[in-house]
Amino acid sequence: MTRHTLSEQFFRDQAQHSASGGLSSVLNRISLVGRMLAAEIMRAGFVGKLGYTGTTNVQDENVRALDVISNDIVLQVFESMPMMAGIASEEMEDIHLLPEGENGKYLLTVDPLDGSGNVDVAGQMGTIFGIYRRQSSGKATLADFLQAGTNLVAAGYVLYGPCTMLVYSAGGPVNGFTLDRSIGTFFLTHPNLRIPEGEGSYSVNEANEGKWDARTQAMVRTFRTQQTRCGKRSARYAGALVGDFHRTLLKGGIYMYPGEAKKPEGKLRLLYENAPLAFVCEKAGGAATDGKQRILAITPQKLHQRTPLYIGSKGDVEEVHSLLHD
Ligand code: F6P
Ligand code: MN
Repeated sequence: MTRHTLSEQFFRDQAQHSASGGLSSVLNRISLVGRMLAAEIMRAGFVGKLGYTGTTNVQDENVRALDVISNDIVLQVFESMPMMAGIASEEMEDIHLLPEGENGKYLLTVDPLDGSGNVDVAGQMGTIFGIYRRQSSGKATLADFLQAGTNLVAAGYVLYGPCTMLVYSAGGPVNGFTLDRSIGTFFLTHPNLRIPEGEGSYSVNEANEGKWDARTQAMVRTFRTQQTRCGKRSARYAGALVGDFHRTLLKGGIYMYPGEAKKPEGKLRLLYENAPLAFVCEKAGGAATDGKQRILAITPQKLHQRTPLYIGSKGDVEEVHSLLHD
């Protein structure tokens, strides 16, 4: 059996999908982040790296030790990469310009450790990344980062679970790779992923029901009581977006994080959570909206902008729309 490596795929992407030079190096660094973080997560319990630091981040969330480590790893890995101009991370209030990146043509948006609430319970976590091409020259500015997801050059995620997987698209098919830990190499295990239609699960934090408007409550109830026209759906919720999205991508169905009456923008962030996953989902034949419009069409007004998220099989996302609006 031929085993294709991730590095081979990077070069194929570069050749086939109009990705310009340097993208394969950037993706290679993402894979290094994934391998380093997988190792950190595995040994966190032995070396006192579980739990909180006692500080909060720009989003007012309690910061865990591994959140800090993950962000530091991303910064270290991209530090000396001239094709990368800057990084926007969930863990940093402002954009971070890379010392050698003044002429860099790419920008990275990243959620270094998504679902870090699962750290202490050996649950799934992930790293979400989006790679944009810079539209200006000279030092990158905040405005360079405020691009709609339709401009993404490549996007994907690393999933840390019982195995470590890297799933991404560089504008072509969505491919999934699994890390062979014994040799530190990702191999292609899930070529050309297509999200199934008419099956799978629905995934939403139903404990928030009291915070939703009546329309959203009724819509989710339709899924819970298995009365959707798109078919019966089981309930699944890992509490880590990457884990919940990965299951949805492979098995079908929908992941939802609705807006709330007092917080209509919801919880999840556009630039480094929703847009990269929407890119992957669309490339796999699915859909992603904020309940009103396509996620990829939204141009962010600010770095840490939030939007509601409905993402998954096309039929399910369309049904959510009709339940919310018709
Ligand atoms: O990054 C935000 C996040 O941790 C996601 O990974 C996850 O899906 C979501 O928040 C869980 O939020 P809640 O605890 O409100 O369901
Ligand atoms: Mn996250």
